[in-house]
This record gives sequence, C-alpha cells and structure tokens, in this order.
Amino acid sequence: MIKSTDAGGSAVQVGAQSVYSQCITNHPRIIAVLGGTGNEGQGLALRFAAAGHRVIIGSRDAEKARTAAQQLNGRLERSLLEGSDNQAAVKAADVIILTVPYSVQRTTVEQVSAALGGKILIDATVPLKPPKVSRVQLPEAGSAVAAIQRMLGESVRVVSAFQNVSAHHLQDLDHAVDCDVLVCGDDVNAREVVVGLCGDIGMRGLHAGPIDNSAAAEALTSILISINSRYKSAGAGIRITNLPD
Ligand SMILES: NC(=O)c1ccc[n+]([C@@H]2O[C@H](COP(=O)([O-])OP(=O)(O)OC[C@H]3O[C@@H](n4cnc5c(N)ncnc54)[C@H](OP(=O)(O)O)[C@@H]3O)[C@@H](O)[C@H]2O)c1
Repeated sequence: MIKSTDAGGSAVQVGAQSVYSQCITNHPRIIAVLGGTGNEGQGLALRFAAAGHRVIIGSRDAEKARTAAQQLNGRLERSLLEGSDNQAAVKAADVIILTVPYSVQRTTVEQVSAALGGKILIDATVPLKPPKVSRVQLPEAGSAVAAIQRMLGESVRVVSAFQNVSAHHLQDLDHAVDCDVLVCGDDVNAREVVVGLCGDIGMRGLHAGPIDNSAAAEALTSILISINSRYKSAGAGIRITNLPD
C-alpha cells in the first residue's frame, strides 16, 4: 500500500496495491502545476498530493482545472487537490511546475511571470517538434529551460527536472517510478529543494549541474522515445550508476 502524509502530517492511504511507502523529506509546500490537466502534469500532481503537499492544478480554463482536480481527488479518495486558472495557481503557490507543450512554454510563462518573483519554477519542458519526436531537436540556443531562466532573470529560480520521467508511470500509483531525475539549475538551494521533492515522491533526484545542462536531459527524452518505440516500452527511464549510498 502507498502510505503518505497529508499537509498536517497524518497518514494517508492512497492505494491498496502499491509496493512502497513515502514520507515528506521537505516541509509541505504549495505546488501549482501549470498544464496540470495534461498527462505529465496530472501524474506529478497526483504523486505530490499523495505525498502530502498541497497541490493546485493550473489551466488556461479554471473550470477545466477544477474538473481535473476533482477526478484526481476521486482516484486518491481524499480531497487533496484543487484547481484554478494558471495565474491564480501561481499566486497561491511557492513552487510552480510547468508541464505544457514546448510550443507554448514561453507564452505560458510570460502570462504568469508577474507572480513568479522569488519562487521556484520547475520546468519539465522537452523541446519536441512533432512529428519527429524521437529525434533530438534542441533550440539553437541550447536548452529550452535555460532560455526560460534567461528570460525571467535572477528573481525566479528555474530548475529543470522530470523531462525523463514518463507520465504513464507517474499516473500509476500502484507502482514506484523506477528512474532517476536529473535536476539542473543555477541556484544550488533551489536544486536542493527539488531533489528533496523528488524524494518525497519516491524518486532519486540528482544534482546535475547548472541550468544549461538541462540540454542533456531534454535531448535524452527523444532517445527514450526512440527506445520506447524499438523495445515496445510504455516509458523507459534512466538510472545513474556507481554512486555512493
Ligand atoms: N507525457 C510525458 O510522458 C512527458 C514526460 C516528460 C516531460 N514531458 C513534457 O511535459 C510537457 C507536457 O507534456 P504532456 O504530455 O503532459 O502534454 P499534454 O498532455 O498535451 O498536456 C499539456 C497541457 O498543457 C496545456 N496547454 C497550454 N497551452 C496549450 C496549447 N496551446 N496546446 C495544448 N496544450 C496546451 C493544456 O492545459 P490546459 O488546456 O488545461 O491549459 C494541456 O493539458 C511537455 O513539455 C512534455 O515534453 C512529458
């Protein structure tokens, strides 16, 4: 069974079949997931809510966000998530996760940038350009996430993470997600927060260097998509080996 804690620290059971338990390594945070109505966003929202964080699903459409939050609460059998439009979600949160398509990454951030100051923005964006999503096609400047850090300036601490974590696994709460998370960012303290958040949802987050290194994580996703296709996997992931315990 998955056991976790709610924001008040009490135990929450969110599944009968699962094989692992979780605990909060950070203090509970208010996490907004922009594009939280989508596949990756819903997966992350579910996991963070189950781990005891307060999660707000953000959407361009507040009603769509509330409906998604209700559906996820139904899966958790507890009212742990709420929904609102992206702007309100960012205002209420201290950590924001961005899970929108690359084509709208910049405009989505621009629309909420006034409320981002002083906060941590975790960007899971992969610069995929359909239809050739299994081919690495990084932007000319390098990393899509680093470009967002440059656009926002130092007042927002941008951290890249979760690019290599499949929504398919995140949404299956009956199983631990079997992969590592490369965490890149220029602010070491913000990176440390995100490494802790990865631990809260049962994954090993690894400090992977400055925000420019996000290019490697972004590129890896196309390789994983290619591997998924060749080996008929629903979501290959990565593991870094030979680290001390
Ligand atoms: N899927 C994965 O396994 C996976 C894994 C790692 C990283 N990622 C990355 O996470 C991001 C989201 O991927 P996803 O698979 O979750 O995508 P998705 O299911 O298509 O969801 C994206 C969400 O973005 C929002 N959005 C805002 N503007 C949009 C527009 N013009 N067109 C479409 N959606 C728009 C939508 O929310 P509203 O309509 O509610 O605003 C939508 O629910 C991408 O950058 C992707 O590369 C995905």
